[in-house]
Amino acid sequence: MDQLVIEGRHPLKGTIRISGAKNAALPILAATLLTGGTFRLQNIPRLVDIKTFTDLMTDLGVIVDYSADNDSDVLNIDSSGLSDHEAPYDLVRKMRASILVLGPLLSRTGKARVSLPGGCAIGARPINLHLKGLELMGAKLRLKKGYIEARAGRLNGAHIYFDTPSVTGTENLMMAAVLAKGTTVLRNAAREPEILALGQMLNQMEAKIKGLGSDTVKIEGVRKLRPVDWAIIPDRIEAGTYMMAVGTAGGELIIENLLANHLEAVISKLRSTGLQIEGDNTRISVRKKGNLHSVDIKTLPYPGFPTDLQAQIMVLMALADGLSVITETIFENRFMHVAELRRLGADIKVEGRSALIKGINELNGAPVMATDLRASASLVLAGLAAKGTTTISRVYHLDRGYECLERKLAAVGANIKREKA
Ligand code: UD1
Repeated sequence: MDQLVIEGRHPLKGTIRISGAKNAALPILAATLLTGGTFRLQNIPRLVDIKTFTDLMTDLGVIVDYSADNDSDVLNIDSSGLSDHEAPYDLVRKMRASILVLGPLLSRTGKARVSLPGGCAIGARPINLHLKGLELMGAKLRLKKGYIEARAGRLNGAHIYFDTPSVTGTENLMMAAVLAKGTTVLRNAAREPEILALGQMLNQMEAKIKGLGSDTVKIEGVRKLRPVDWAIIPDRIEAGTYMMAVGTAGGELIIENLLANHLEAVISKLRSTGLQIEGDNTRISVRKKGNLHSVDIKTLPYPGFPTDLQAQIMVLMALADGLSVITETIFENRFMHVAELRRLGADIKVEGRSALIKGINELNGAPVMATDLRASASLVLAGLAAKGTTTISRVYHLDRGYECLERKLAAVGANIKREKA
């Protein structure tokens, strides 16, 4: 198993280019199941999660020209041969986002059999809202041997209210609704940029979706869609992570190929910590001058501060001058990085859904263990700041969602290498 070895305290200098967004690419791959024909997708990040999803699509009879060794960011997909409707446990347990095939399979073929995702490290993560929406659209669902078995004739449009805005829930129901009979209205829908991007692609495929980017999305069902060429938006979480790396390692980075307007809450908080951020929407500079200041953070659905950057900003707060409170409102168990950060000397106490952080002057390198994707990124940021050597084991979590992380950081001056444990 690979581990990352980081020698801390090397300030960063140079340019990092942001890759395509994992969380935008996954629903867009799922959308190619909605119709036969050839799609050409650009700016696809080379990530383990993308490979897992394309393996699932291949199992379903779709032709995907993914080669893990190929550096190209283009993926050609031919979904004409879709011949199966099952997402097996082995793939869904590796990646919960596999649930995204449920809506498209059901609306194109009238049937789907998808393994029920179990709990995951960051919480129970139910899918009740996906299922309730599909039932309101007329699907017959039953749970058998750990699988959701779904059947439907042509789905019917319905009015669906989300008790809590769910990202993949909104995406699944949008994909189910585009081929349904009549109009579907999704209320209190999630409005993350990745959902907007999916909706824009579906409209390019000749779906009729209005209200994209708002919490009320109206979808008028159509009979047929067509394949398209499409480019994946930049990964706002990757961009936010590298902005925060400047906060922990020091120095100055140019970050390019991002969409800074997707990061307004993050940039505003980072400026309050004292980081200097300038530039335009697609290219910014981030510079650290002086000590970091404490700020309080509460994770919220978009456009609020993203839960996927909560672990990373906690490292900045661990090194800031003063006390801060980070409140996690999205997932109930997303503080596993705290125990690992404490091993590096951080002073953090968890009380319920809040972490109370008392900033200290320095962290000290130690062996730590990655527990989930974003927690792993926080350990890398901590390793960049720490005195001495930090060894991070179980880095396969990072490979799920950060393209070439150690190569990108080493190229801007970090002392980081991957080795076999
Ligand atoms: C997506 C992202 C993930 C991010 C999360 C929150 C993808 C592939 N993953 O995950 O990186 O951390 O959004 O921004 O895009 N909930 C229910 N019932 C449901 C569905 C969700 O109660 O049926 C709850 C969840 O437990 C959680 C909240 O809704 O408390 C938000 O979860 P959701 O937006 O669904 O997360 P994902 O789509 O799984």
